Amino acid sequence: MTTLAVRGGLAFINGSFSQKDILIEDGVIASTSADAQKADETVYAPGCLVLPGLIDPHVHLREPGDTYKEDFRTGGRAAIAGGFTTVMDMPNNRLPTVTRERLDEKARLAREKAPCNVLFHFGGTDSNFAEVRKADPQSLKLYLGKTTGELMLHDPTALERHFANFHKDRPIVLHACGDSPDEAKDLERTYANIENCVSLAQKMQRRIHIAHASTGHELLLAKRWKGCTVEVAPHHLFLSKNDLERLGPYGKVYPQLRSEQMRIGLWKMLEGADCIATDHAPHTPEDKENGAAGYPGLETSVALMFDACAKGLLDRIWVAERMSGRVAGTFGLKGVGVLEKGCAGDVTIFDPKKEWSVDASEFQTKCKWSPFDGKALKGKVRTVIRGGKQLYVDNEFWD
Ligand code: NCD
Ligand code: ZN
Ligand code: ZN
Repeated sequence: MTTLAVRGGLAFINGSFSQKDILIEDGVIASTSADAQKADETVYAPGCLVLPGLIDPHVHLREPGDTYKEDFRTGGRAAIAGGFTTVMDMPNNRLPTVTRERLDEKARLAREKAPCNVLFHFGGTDSNFAEVRKADPQSLKLYLGKTTGELMLHDPTALERHFANFHKDRPIVLHACGDSPDEAKDLERTYANIENCVSLAQKMQRRIHIAHASTGHELLLAKRWKGCTVEVAPHHLFLSKNDLERLGPYGKVYPQLRSEQMRIGLWKMLEGADCIATDHAPHTPEDKENGAAGYPGLETSVALMFDACAKGLLDRIWVAERMSGRVAGTFGLKGVGVLEKGCAGDVTIFDPKKEWSVDASEFQTKCKWSPFDGKALKGKVRTVIRGGKQLYVDNEFWD
């Protein structure tokens, strides 16, 4: 038996931070008030937040199909460096994840290559109802507007049929934003999509989840049905249209960046958000110059969120919950996202005082640019433990 103890930090247990030690035995949490004398290995974490290994419910790791943008190894390393031990990969690959065979193939590649846990959202098409049943995934993703790749619903009856076909208590994740460069049209489409999905879900008493809400009004609409959860991405909290001039073609993202006033509106409704999601969507500079939408997010998100805590804008407990336990709860993930006896020995140690600046050239992702490049932040991931093993310590991988 091998044991590892994390001592002297502020551990996030049962919804609050307290001075507790964590003991991991053979990859599993054995106690959360450990007598660390007995451990083979001890990690000291004074002044640090000891968090459950973080969970990102929305990443695009691009494998198979577009491994020139990202693959399970590089994307998985970006996740670990960003404090995430579990990520949920989206189905909009070049060959979308819409059959059980493709899902199995993706899972095999991820197991072989990724240093973190990778779970998968299955894609819904106009006609793959039988495949959804066969694959029996934990969640189903439906694209109601244009995204990277071809995956999207076209048949207006397909939405309702998926709502009826898929397990009522598992989330259907909705990409509901419009794709018009005209902001008014885009918002009109976005709101209409969400309103329609929310009322349909309520009528059918089924779980849904709104991906990347970018305005306060989306949160308001979503919260009309208790079975609807919502995620928000840090770039919609910290960037607005005012950044577009600086970012040029690198500014393109779905949903598009909103006005400064709407960004503030998102903050005002933020209480209603269930999850923080990076929507890590890596593209090469060449693809960005040619109009690709999406930002990398894995290696900046937790620091952006806790930097906002340091500035007094958010509460640490609120953030920690929405990057771990609440994400697990939203997607029905068992044994991860909480520091509790019997759960996976996945721990993220975060130093809230460490000051640093984003340098995208040092990223683990293949995407060596960031809309936050050069940004000064307070708080940084220090150590990431997965299954009781230290994988990442002070900017270095212990392979
Ligand atoms: C994502 C991508 O590139 O896969 N892009 C983005 O702008 N968010 C797709 C998506 O999340 O819709
Ligand atoms: Zn999307
Ligand atoms: Zn996405």
